[in-house]
Amino acid sequence: MDFAARITGTGAAFPENRLSNASIVERLAKLGVETSDTWIRERTGIRERRISDVENPAELNSSLGFSAAQKALEMAEKSAEDIDQIIYATCSPDTLLPSTACWLQHKLGAKKAWAMDINAACSGFIYGLATADKFIQTGQVKTSLVVAGEVLNPMVNWEDRNTCILFGDGAGAAIVEQVPSDSTRRILSSHLLSDGNLWDFLWVPAGGSNMEVSPERYSRKLHKIKMKGKEIFKVAVKTLSDFALHTLNKNLMTTDDLDWFVPHQANLRIIEAVVKRIKLPMEKVLINVDRYGNTSAATIPTALDEAVRDGRIKSGQTVLLDAFGAGLTYGSLLLRW
Ligand SMILES: CC(C)(COP(=O)(O)OP(=O)(O)OC[C@H]1O[C@@H](n2cnc3c(N)ncnc32)[C@H](O)[C@@H]1OP(=O)(O)O)[C@@H](O)C(=O)NCCC(=O)NCCS
Repeated sequence: MDFAARITGTGAAFPENRLSNASIVERLAKLGVETSDTWIRERTGIRERRISDVENPAELNSSLGFSAAQKALEMAEKSAEDIDQIIYATCSPDTLLPSTACWLQHKLGAKKAWAMDINAACSGFIYGLATADKFIQTGQVKTSLVVAGEVLNPMVNWEDRNTCILFGDGAGAAIVEQVPSDSTRRILSSHLLSDGNLWDFLWVPAGGSNMEVSPERYSRKLHKIKMKGKEIFKVAVKTLSDFALHTLNKNLMTTDDLDWFVPHQANLRIIEAVVKRIKLPMEKVLINVDRYGNTSAATIPTALDEAVRDGRIKSGQTVLLDAFGAGLTYGSLLLRW
């Protein structure tokens, strides 16, 4: 291959409304369900999350994606007309038809692009970046826009204390450009895997073509997220660690060669357990779960954008992205910034 891909711009956007743990405690107490700020902080590391107002057009998934994309374009010094490909990673699309990628194309006016969604849940940004990387390597695409955005709020059961404390809304974006294959600063490798046998660890039963939302199913909240939290926790720690070490190994590197580790932000305790297993100092880990909760596909690009903009991530540094999500899906991607 004569080409490689490099991220040249990042962006992030969140809805305005902050929902603190205290507000959730208050909300659940009205339903007679008990939780506490201490429990949520100690078991998850989350202090607050952002929640979209779905009646506000500016806070739709594609609108958050639009803001994030504009910031990424600005950083990359590109315009919407330069984009050849739009990949939108999401499990909470604006509409089932058309794709959120097409809504975003419409909003951006990216006339020469082709656009598609990817649903790999929380691994979506890595699946999207890996796809962009491969198209760029073949020479078919010069400039790709990869967005990961979620508005999970309507899928969250706000009466279920096991899940409603975890999730938040937001979007992150990256402009990925073609560079010569011998460039130092590029995506080095990506590694993807799924295990559909574990479909019931995290899923939404109704709303797809296998189960229409009827009034009866609506009242049973079958259109809301169902989760086996403990089971996911165990698989997540193992696969995030295995993928991190495998990726470093494939690139003849060890954790000592890493400048930054950007794991999916589902639970601070999962991240701490992984970091311990792979023997990486916590100072090298990007964290935003405390302020935004689990924004699914958007956790990694939003954490990345924050560290790029505040100067923690510097040119030439080695960065490892690592995720797991519903499916289950797993993915890791190593890059030199
Ligand atoms: C969900 C999660 C935070 C629960 O934490 P945990 O330490 O495993 O807690 P447990 O499930 O063992 O529950 C312990 C107790 O706390 C209770 N509990 C659960 N949620 C609670 C809450 N919000 N407030 C107070 N108590 C709660 C449970 O009912 C249980 O009570 P019991 O012992 O009487 O049965 C944790 O398992 C997790 O983060 N899992 C991964 C989920 C994830 O990553 N999902 C997204 C994938 S992309």
